[in-house]
Amino acid sequence: MLTGKKILLGVTGGIAAFKAASLCSKLVQQGAEVRVIMTESATKFISELTLQSLSRGPVYTDTFDEKNPAVIAHINLADWADLVLIAPATANIIGKMAAGLADDMLSTTLLATQAPIMVAPAMNVHMYQHPAVMRNMNELAERGVMFVEPGEGLLACGYVGKGRLEEPEEIVKVVERYFERLAGSASLPLYGKKVVVTAGGTIERIDPVRYITNDSSGKMGFALAEAARELGAEVLLIAGNTQSPPPAGIPLERVQSAQDMYEAALGHFGSSDIVIKAAAVADYRPAVQSDRKIKKTGETLTLDLVKNIDILEQLGRLKTKQFLIGFAAETNDVEKYALDKLRRKNCDLIVANDVTSEGAGFGTDTNIVNIYDAEGLVQSLPLLSKRQTARQILGLAADRIAGDRV
Ligand code: CTP
Repeated sequence: MLTGKKILLGVTGGIAAFKAASLCSKLVQQGAEVRVIMTESATKFISELTLQSLSRGPVYTDTFDEKNPAVIAHINLADWADLVLIAPATANIIGKMAAGLADDMLSTTLLATQAPIMVAPAMNVHMYQHPAVMRNMNELAERGVMFVEPGEGLLACGYVGKGRLEEPEEIVKVVERYFERLAGSASLPLYGKKVVVTAGGTIERIDPVRYITNDSSGKMGFALAEAARELGAEVLLIAGNTQSPPPAGIPLERVQSAQDMYEAALGHFGSSDIVIKAAAVADYRPAVQSDRKIKKTGETLTLDLVKNIDILEQLGRLKTKQFLIGFAAETNDVEKYALDKLRRKNCDLIVANDVTSEGAGFGTDTNIVNIYDAEGLVQSLPLLSKRQTARQILGLAADRIAGDRV
């Protein structure tokens, strides 16, 4: 798949640096020509000799150690690469890239290159969520740097959360898909399609300091957006209140209320091919939104709620070519309610989960879902990560759009 592709692999100093060996080996096995630059810190975790042997080429660590007097190594490598892949990428290299610093071989080459850059971050969960790191990643994403999102799980530092380097075989797949996309490859199932994903919970204001929301973390919606991008789609995320960080590099519109989400979704509906309503939309909002903080008065307070617009139902009425995917989080009679929602909202597929089962539903990194169409159960997925679940859902949608009944 990668025959003849020149990949410059940048390895930076985190515990995940050892995975660069497997990554390098897999890239070479797929036919890529790989050259490696390591930061000094990376050499503390994995030896140059390992990467030299696996890449079958010299490993660069020092800007001033010119191995060939005829060329300037960092310029030569910068010009040579078809793709620069940094894996693992620490918070430090991400920060240096965002700031445009060039104080070692890797950062200098990164400034000199005009090749596309792909970054696979790996760090502690709190570092990953630090506003400075988030800002730097967003800055890079805006400049066109691609990201391979880290996975979630037990981190080497002992914390559980997002920050674990994506598995080497997954990174290789993302690299392969990148080259396919570049070749304008229609082999990517959602190439040329626009996918809109709504994620998270809506916020319904009571007064300037209080609101009603729900437990939706946004994780499922974010995973769906990433999966759609991997399959070659142009993706837009519309997100309400979320607990987890959104995937870098995917355009994101932040909204608050159900009404805002409806307007945002409607604005993009005409040009969409697939719309996925993974958001947990509040069914009701306060009848009156006070523009002043409500003061404490009697022993009880009654809040009048009025019904919100049902976004999916409205889109279901308006749909022409759009493939609509709804979600149904249920605690009982899952199939009955899911099918009822699918019909009422005119969806093509509905993804249902029983939120009472362990490993499914709000906040978790995993899900257990059944996917239905108008004729009934299409697929019953086991306990999977939300990312894997998302890939299955998008794969099914892509097959259906292509006219393959699965
Ligand atoms: N949905 C929506 N707008 C709403 C409510 C729900 O677009 N006002 C969408 C959700 O994003 C989801 C699907 O409809 O894709 C089902 O949401 P759910 O809350 O399970 O269904 P409801 O129709 O609200 O039914 P109920 O709350 O009675 O279960």
